[in-house]
Amino acid sequence: MTDPTSQKFYELNLAERLAHLSRESGVPLEELEVLSGAGGLNADQADHMVENAVGVFSLPLGIARNFLVNGREVLVPMAVEEPSVIAGASFMAKLVRLGGGFTAEASAPEMIGQLQVLDVTDFEGARSRLEEHRAELLSMASAVDPMLMRFGGGARDLHVRLIERSEIGPFLVVHLILDVRDAMGANAINTALERIAPRVAEISGGRVHLRILSNLADRRLARAVCTIPLEALAFEGYSAEKVRDGILDAWAFAEADPYRAATHNKGIMNGVDAVVLASGNDWRAVEAGAHAYAAQSGRYTSLSIWRKDAQGNLCGELEMPMAVGIVGGATRVHPAAQVGLKLMKVTTADELAEIIVSVGLAQNLAALRALATEGIQRGHMGLHARQIAAAAGAKGDEIEKLAQQLVHEKTIRAERAEEILKEWRKQAYD
Ligand code: MEV
Repeated sequence: MTDPTSQKFYELNLAERLAHLSRESGVPLEELEVLSGAGGLNADQADHMVENAVGVFSLPLGIARNFLVNGREVLVPMAVEEPSVIAGASFMAKLVRLGGGFTAEASAPEMIGQLQVLDVTDFEGARSRLEEHRAELLSMASAVDPMLMRFGGGARDLHVRLIERSEIGPFLVVHLILDVRDAMGANAINTALERIAPRVAEISGGRVHLRILSNLADRRLARAVCTIPLEALAFEGYSAEKVRDGILDAWAFAEADPYRAATHNKGIMNGVDAVVLASGNDWRAVEAGAHAYAAQSGRYTSLSIWRKDAQGNLCGELEMPMAVGIVGGATRVHPAAQVGLKLMKVTTADELAEIIVSVGLAQNLAALRALATEGIQRGHMGLHARQIAAAAGAKGDEIEKLAQQLVHEKTIRAERAEEILKEWRKQAYD
């Protein structure tokens, strides 16, 4: 692989980028070409995925560059409609690699499933009977998916909780912990829950109501850390110390205030969701887990932590639930997701989780660095102006020319774009 820090990938045209990507990644061009056009999924494939399908809905797919995760170069596919996200992640990854790249880890892929048990009369008796039957219930749950057992997964534990509710009275909740290996695991856990539910009812003497996984996957966490050498933070008129301290002050705001934390975490999810989506995973599940985890202390706060080390370098950390898989579901049937996984060269769900959390941290840094210095609008302007120009009806070379004019006038508005276009076309006609 050539040195990614010297690439000017963004200067190539679409066809050249695909060819370059193919050479760089070793993924054959014919396979990458599924990304062109409708984004790899056709209406017939969509028809097998959802009910009442009438077609497909596409999003831009870009490649974030410069990522070094656990010492490995990674090309990161990101599906996202927002300008500046991919550029921001790539640029921050470039700064992070000056400090050795991202160090990331994922805990065991253990999902939590919940059974709500109502109408229990003897709570302590039910709890101790369920605990006595733990081994039997775990082996019942494991037997549901022999394939999972073959790959080293299976049921790991059972916890019994009592929840007090004045409206309906207290009820029991049984948590089933299932190691789902390289799957996202929703199907595995929901099937296992449905299988053990009747036996749980018998043992507890209650009635099993809900049987569903929890998206607060706090036993399946991914964590990334990075260090940016202080001197790498300086740019234009901003000293390195000013940028670093500005980022730390911005983080303190998110840490203290839920209004700010929601936006701060949204910035993290810009990166996380884009990779979750490009790998065919369930981004709503990851979103739900992220925000519930951010509120786990009882107060919603920042998912990331930023601090300075003894040498004054900037250090970042992001830990969050990461229920993603590389087998099953859309990861298997969506051709673009298959290409995405190949580009990242991931062989386990853990590796995918480690990349995703690293991208989330990079994205957070991009937002904080911009917000703490020149603001985010400057970075957004170019692409936003191109979107407005295209929407106003500009075609071909006109799009770039009109975008530049809008940026120059500092008026990136649809009415102004239409007005300029009308003037140009009138001049050409006259
Ligand atoms: C915009 O999509 C994301 C940001 O608002 C994140 C943040 O404020 O940290 C820029």
